[in-house]
Amino acid sequence: MRSLLVLFPILVALVWCQRIPNFTVSNAELLAMAKKLRQVDVNRARPDQIKLNYQKHTVTRDDSDAAPAKLFSRVDSSLLRKPSYELYLNLMDNFNRQTGITEPRVSQTEEKAEVGKFLDHVLATQPMQELYNWFKAKGHPIATSPQNFRFWIGQLWFSHYSRALGRPDTSGFEHVFIGEAKNGEISGLHNWLRFYVLENNRTENFDYKGFTVKRFNIMGALKFTWDGLLKRVGSILIGTSPEYDMALYTMCFLSRRGRETCDVELDGCPLQITSFEIMQQNKVYIGSIYPTAGRLTDECRAQNR
Ligand SMILES: *[C@@H]1O[C@H](CO)[C@@H](O)[C@H](O)[C@H]1NC(C)=O
Ligand SMILES: *[C@@H]1O[C@H](CO)[C@@H](O)[C@H](O)[C@H]1NC(C)=O
Repeated sequence: MRSLLVLFPILVALVWCQRIPNFTVSNAELLAMAKKLRQVDVNRARPDQIKLNYQKHTVTRDDSDAAPAKLFSRVDSSLLRKPSYELYLNLMDNFNRQTGITEPRVSQTEEKAEVGKFLDHVLATQPMQELYNWFKAKGHPIATSPQNFRFWIGQLWFSHYSRALGRPDTSGFEHVFIGEAKNGEISGLHNWLRFYVLENNRTENFDYKGFTVKRFNIMGALKFTWDGLLKRVGSILIGTSPEYDMALYTMCFLSRRGRETCDVELDGCPLQITSFEIMQQNKVYIGSIYPTAGRLTDECRAQNR
C-alpha cells in the first residue's frame, strides 16, 4: 500500500506525459524568486574563494587567443569538497562528448546510482526546496508531491534523448552542465565548475581564449577550445552552487522557455536566461539553458565593486 502511494504520482506523471502545461507567472515574480534563490544559496563561493583572470576582450569570428593564462587563477579547494560539488564531479566522466554516440559512457548501473545520489542530495538543498515550495504554492503539476517533483527533475535533466543519428546521445544535464561536441564545435557547457575542471586537466586540452562580455566575478561570456573544437562564445554563472544553477534554470525553463527570456538578477546585475525544449516521442526535455548579460547597471557596479 505504501509503495503504491509512492508510485501513484509517478504513474500519473507517466500517463499524463508529457506536455507540461502552460504556466503563468509575472516577470516580477520570477525576479523575486531568483533573488530568493541567490539568498539561500549557502553553498556558493565566497568572493575570496575564487580569483578570476579574464585577460583580454575577444570576438567570436575566429579562434584567436586573447588569453594566454587560465580564467580561474585560484579556486579554494574546500569548495570542491562540498557534497553537491563532489556529487557533480562524480557525474563528469559519465558522458560521451561526441553526439551520435549512445549514452552513458559508463555502465547504466553506475550512471543510475550516481544520478540518484546527486538528485537525492540536490533536491534536499535550500534552493531546490524553495523552488519546490514555490511551484507547489502556485499549483504547478510538477510539484504535487516531492516524489512527482523528483520524477520531473530527473526527466527534464537526466533522461537521454537524441541530438544526432536518432541515438539517445544527450540530456539537458549533459548539454548545460557537461558540454558536448556537435558538428565540429562545442555545444552547451554553461557551468563554471565544469569549466574549471576542464581547464585544470591537461588531458582535456582545454584553452580559455578571452571574454566577449564579463560581469565582475559573477558571470562571463567566454571563448574557448576543448580538445581541438571551438566554442565561439559560451556563458557561465560564476561561483554559484550546482543546486542554485539547477533551481534557477529549472524555474526559467518551466516559466519562459521558447522565444521569451527569463529576466532575473544576480547581485544587482540583470541577466537574461534563454531556454529551449526538445520534444521527442511526445516527451519534453531540456534542449539548452544559458545566461546572457543584460545592461550593465549602476546597481550591478555598486554591488560588485
Ligand atoms: C500554451 O502556450 C502555447 C504557446 O504560447 C499556445 O500555443 C497554447 O495555445 C497554450 N495552451 C493553452 C492551453 O493555453
Ligand atoms: C582528466 O581527463 C581525462 C579525460 O577525460 C580523464 O580520463 C581523467 O580521469 C581526468 N583526470 C582527473 C584528475 O580528473
